[in-house]
Amino acid sequence: MNALNTLLGSGPGAFLAQGGGSFWLPQRGTAIAGEVDSIFNFILWVSLFFFVLIVGVMAVFIVRYRQRRAGEVAASSVSHNTALELTWTLVPVALVIVIFTVGFRAYLKLTVPPVDAYEVLVTGQKWNWQFTYPNGYRDGQLHVPVDKAIRLVMSSEDVIHSFFIPDFRVKQDVVPGRYSKIWFKAEAPGEHVILCAEFCGTGHSDMISKVIVHPAGEFETWLEAAGGFLDKLPPAEAGERLTQSLGCNACHSVDGSRMVGPSYKGLFGSPRRLKSGDTVTADEDYIRRSMLDPAGQVVEGFDPVMPTFQGRVKEKEIAVIIAYIKSLSDREAPQP
Ligand code: CUA
Repeated sequence: MNALNTLLGSGPGAFLAQGGGSFWLPQRGTAIAGEVDSIFNFILWVSLFFFVLIVGVMAVFIVRYRQRRAGEVAASSVSHNTALELTWTLVPVALVIVIFTVGFRAYLKLTVPPVDAYEVLVTGQKWNWQFTYPNGYRDGQLHVPVDKAIRLVMSSEDVIHSFFIPDFRVKQDVVPGRYSKIWFKAEAPGEHVILCAEFCGTGHSDMISKVIVHPAGEFETWLEAAGGFLDKLPPAEAGERLTQSLGCNACHSVDGSRMVGPSYKGLFGSPRRLKSGDTVTADEDYIRRSMLDPAGQVVEGFDPVMPTFQGRVKEKEIAVIIAYIKSLSDREAPQP
């Protein structure tokens, strides 16, 4: 249970009612979360009430009107009861009208963002999330300012994913070939988990990221500093940052452990046995080709599931990623 609590952002040992959460629901990070929870609880209690009532009455009837003697014939139901029939029709009708009205109002609030919302582009891809900020900077985590409406415009590179921030009570399918949108306004600085809520293949359960809510005034500073890292950091460090923001680390480990894809550790300069039976050396060109045409040289023992990064990474970015992968290997570049 602790692992689940940590994942849901409420911390170990805080199973009940921490940060506005409850037995059923995680903590609340937005104002709308309170409204969603109220409607959920209302429907839950109404359903529970009628479940107990209906099953209880049914049990009473089973006992009371059971066949007592062999061959006993049931009395025919002679007439109806207008008052009873009206009650069991009108009460449920009134309840579903109330549920529809409060549900639809909350749905409109959840779907229509304020006009001054700050826009971030989201790309879902097997198996990571990518966030593009207005200045062009991309990151694997969603950074936002506190107390500001954020509008996410989302699309998918491959299959259907579903963008889900449990603490904010927002969830929306991310579909290839079209844009879907959601918005939220975080109430307090902090971190919350982002999940993929649509089964999308082998790495679905690893498609996890974080939304980081910055205190007032700090988001702009962060964005400006983050934007220029390609020019400011040494190549290997810039490469490490870039593999995180591109989400490479969702499938490639750096400690030699096997994930969806091969580990980066010791990769550079090593011989790679391919599915085709050939053996190639992992030099700069091999790494570049692996990014731009991943299906072209699949390593034996792995599936050809990596999407192409053709058009998504610039030459300069490929160069720093190569520098990073190099730094994780003690081999020297092979001499021609
Ligand atoms: Cu993406 Cu599940």
